[in-house]
Amino acid sequence: GAPFFHYRDGELWVEELPVAALAREHGTPLFVYSLAALRTAAGAWQQALAGRDALVCYALKANSTLAIVQALARAGCGADIVSGGELARALRAGVPPERIVFSGVGKTRAEMRAALQAGIGCFNVESVGELDVLDAVARELGVQAPVSLRVNPDVDARTHPYISTGLRDNKFGIAHDEALAAYRHAARLPGLRVVGIDCHIGSQITTVEPYLDALERVLDLVEAIEAEGIALHHLDLGGGLGIDYHGETPPTPPALVGALLARLDARGHGRRRLLFEPGRSLVGNAGLCVTEVLHAKPGAARNFLIVDAAMNDLPRPAMYGAWHAIVPVRPRTDAPARMWDVVGPVCESGDWLGRDRELAAQPGDLLAVGSAGAYCMSMASHYNTRGKAAEVLVSGARAQLIRARETVADLWRQERALALD
Ligand code: LLP
Repeated sequence: GAPFFHYRDGELWVEELPVAALAREHGTPLFVYSLAALRTAAGAWQQALAGRDALVCYALKANSTLAIVQALARAGCGADIVSGGELARALRAGVPPERIVFSGVGKTRAEMRAALQAGIGCFNVESVGELDVLDAVARELGVQAPVSLRVNPDVDARTHPYISTGLRDNKFGIAHDEALAAYRHAARLPGLRVVGIDCHIGSQITTVEPYLDALERVLDLVEAIEAEGIALHHLDLGGGLGIDYHGETPPTPPALVGALLARLDARGHGRRRLLFEPGRSLVGNAGLCVTEVLHAKPGAARNFLIVDAAMNDLPRPAMYGAWHAIVPVRPRTDAPARMWDVVGPVCESGDWLGRDRELAAQPGDLLAVGSAGAYCMSMASHYNTRGKAAEVLVSGARAQLIRARETVADLWRQERALALD
């Protein structure tokens, strides 16, 4: 539904370019992104936080392609990273190191070292054990690591049926009732400098309430921690804001941020520095994936439309049963629509992109899979020795190839022929 992707003269366009022309030039499957859509999404977050001491740290895991990260860095975003690889990408894309936060439950010593040497803004630490290792690594380097503890607000999922990572029974974060002791411990370690507190309660969240619940719980902790003389410079409320895949109506960034700021102000925390870590809401609806119909296979039980994109390109339907729009690039008026299961060529029954979709399509036609900007290319695999797709970024009437299609030689470059007998 975004205006950056629209039909004109009977075919689908991205900004000022027809999708079919891009597919002809670069082949399929092809990811196509709109730079204006990325900028608009970043602008919505920035605008919501205007006038506040705040930083939007783009969660690279949603889409870590260098040009995408560059575009968001230029739009003023920092980065939320979860690995040494994402650290390298963020730096390469020009994100200033002090705007980088490092999340994740399993940081290695080598990753900690690299991030300390780069001078990142904050380590979002997820366990007491990690605090101790980070302290040791920082002291070896003769530096202090800026840390925040990821606390688990344990918000009630029964009242909020969202995909939760903020609950007690998962691997993320430090339990609410253990957080104060963990902060006391962190404050005593000479290699660490406590700078903040963070939480992240889940992804594809479509209402404000769970965020407000988490905020209340985190502010209770902030007050208890600061009462002990441990200053918390910033509050990082994570990512998780959902997008419209199939009629969902998530709050806009200004609506979400407005509600949070009102609650912060009401509790006297309005001047505290605020961080967010959005991924999906920045990139999800800024991209689509163009795929060609290879074969039509009508049958007694189901009709299959076999396309050249598969679960290795678009893993979300197979992994989560996720729904993505599938629309024709050039809608046909010369053939009746029927119900199809749109599936890929990979040898798994789980390799489907959409089920029971009403389409008038024939072999050779192009289809576009919507909302493919987040957690598609970044989760792509090489299963079935399928190279990763190409990616194109469009701005107005101009297009740039930002990732060339992988060749088979790319795929086996690190492999060695059998030398043992
Ligand atoms: N911060 C932390 C600590 C996270 O774990 C995540 C996502 C984010 C930020 C960004 O969340 P977002 O704004 O994108 O919701 N592969 C799944 C989503 C996994 C999300 C993991 N963590 C999917 O395709 O739905």
